[in-house]
Amino acid sequence: MTKQYGILAYPARHSLSPAVHDAAFKCLKIDAQFGFFETPESEIPSFIESVLSEPISGLAVSLPYKELVMNYMNKIDEDALKIGAVNTVVNKGGMLYAYNTDWIGVQKALEESVGDFSGMNAVVIGAGGAARGVIYALLKGGAKVGVYNRTEEKAQELAKYFGDLFGVMVESGGIDKIDSGDILINTTSIWLENEEAKVEDLMLENVVGRFKTVMDIVYKPLITPLLAAAQKAGSKVITGDKMFLYQAAAQCELWTGEKAPIEVMRETLNNCLL
Ligand code: ATR
Repeated sequence: MTKQYGILAYPARHSLSPAVHDAAFKCLKIDAQFGFFETPESEIPSFIESVLSEPISGLAVSLPYKELVMNYMNKIDEDALKIGAVNTVVNKGGMLYAYNTDWIGVQKALEESVGDFSGMNAVVIGAGGAARGVIYALLKGGAKVGVYNRTEEKAQELAKYFGDLFGVMVESGGIDKIDSGDILINTTSIWLENEEAKVEDLMLENVVGRFKTVMDIVYKPLITPLLAAAQKAGSKVITGDKMFLYQAAAQCELWTGEKAPIEVMRETLNNCLL
């Protein structure tokens, strides 16, 4: 019987997960298909029941459900618990196991571009849900981290939480306090919320160039205003498709137990983004 997988999100229609995972299943010769589970919040309990009854073998979980679905899991992996969010569910014989591969996506994207980032100074912009996996990946890799957010108190809270978790000092402040460093990562939803937003709406353009590497976790547009400013200043850039690719590859491995066909997934993703 064809195994069912899908993306649980609201909205979900824009997601590139189905294309990328279907390509991976095909390459691995696994009889499975990956759909869109666009589900309003009121229908989450009955949807989870259907995951068990249909059954659905696995889920990719995206906004706004990365925290909510934790309430329905039988077991949550340690990294996901520490991050406080899940993006992957595996149905193992009626038991739901949850994981977070977003942080793995960040780690791999960084390693591919800058190598070992242990000891590097990293600045994270934003203190929402997306920032959590990014901060976790950076601290786990041994970077020195600062968190800066429009609402400074949220940056302070997140810095305290992750500082305590790793037993290190995590700096925090408003976005105007950002100075310089090795790596700058934008996790805010600014480009998603406003297509017209410019780099100055986020931070001073001349500060962007004081970072050797600049990353954005959004892949639409691929070159965000922040990355365009970084390119102009001669910094190295990491586009958001890299994090997406590597988090998807880790999901594929959790669902199939096989090594993800990364080049096939990369090619499919690139075609979707053309
Ligand atoms: P997500 O799960 O995508 O991180 P979120 O939890 O709603 O979404 O967090 C959105 C983040 O983007 C927050 O850090 C938010 O800043 P505030 O805490 O001050 O709201 C940030 N953000 C959104 N729009 C922004 C903008 N125009 N300028 C700066 N930061 C912005």
